Amino acid sequence: MDDSRETHGVNAFVTGYPIRHSRSPLIHGYWLKQLGLAGSYRAHEVPVEEFAAFISSLKDGESGFVGGNVTIPHKELAFKLSDRPDELSRELGASNTLWLQDGLLHATNTDGRGFTANLDERHPSWDQSDRAVILGAGGASRAIIQAVRDRGFKEIHVVNRTVERAQELANRFGERVHAHPMAALGEVISGAGLFINTTSLGMDGEAAPRIDFSPLAEAAVVTDIVYIPLKTPLLTQAEEQGFAIVDGLGMLLHQAVPGFEKWFGTRPAVDETLRALIIADMDKH
Ligand code: ATR
Repeated sequence: MDDSRETHGVNAFVTGYPIRHSRSPLIHGYWLKQLGLAGSYRAHEVPVEEFAAFISSLKDGESGFVGGNVTIPHKELAFKLSDRPDELSRELGASNTLWLQDGLLHATNTDGRGFTANLDERHPSWDQSDRAVILGAGGASRAIIQAVRDRGFKEIHVVNRTVERAQELANRFGERVHAHPMAALGEVISGAGLFINTTSLGMDGEAAPRIDFSPLAEAAVVTDIVYIPLKTPLLTQAEEQGFAIVDGLGMLLHQAVPGFEKWFGTRPAVDETLRALIIADMDKH
């Protein structure tokens, strides 16, 4: 990014700790170039103890940023310190996208929109059943539960090794959400049209447990929010067992769209060239 762009364009950030592995600068940099916009988007590492000061400098305009993305471990604090968190982030208690508007710091969470937009693009009939199963009850599963509920699924079954964590989420997200221990997996997937892995199982080439997906509905789709590797062991198993699969990379790409539009004023498109760019970068590391 050259200096004139930094000075005359609009500047946005992605912050986290650590942040150097974030692919967000690649995504937003691709769009800025494609759209010919004079702006910048860069990784800005902030340790936890300095995060509140960073948000203050953002609010008073000293940082020079109009907004940005927030990732682990700052999402909860970003929500708490923002002036105008929207309804989505209030329910989640976490925000990943911030922008200044009329002197106030607004916040939302775009993970759920990234999830649904990815499935809308790759498997448009994904929302045509009543029953969804979500494996995992960590931070990443919250936005997914919210998105699946808001799309209208009647029964959402959250299965987790530590059932208490699943129960907490069932309590938080309402009566359509049910909690189960791992041992119940075979039973609860029966007839489900959507299966989502939100756990780290199978990430970075680690072995994953064998899952018998056969009780799923025949037209079911299986998806994973892990995208390294692109085809996770769970997706490989589901495909071998005859089910449609959708990888998680599109969620990463689509969750970036609303922020870009807020900061730079143009809605960018998720296209195959962008996808190929990120895949090539994943192959490097
Ligand atoms: P994140 O915020 O990325 O979701 P997390 O909060 O650490 O990360 O949650 C990780 C999820 O993966 C949890 O649902 C975790 O199950 P527990 O709540 O029982 O810890 C799940 N997970 C991680 N390793 C697992 C394993 N070996 N077997 C089953 N579940 C696992």
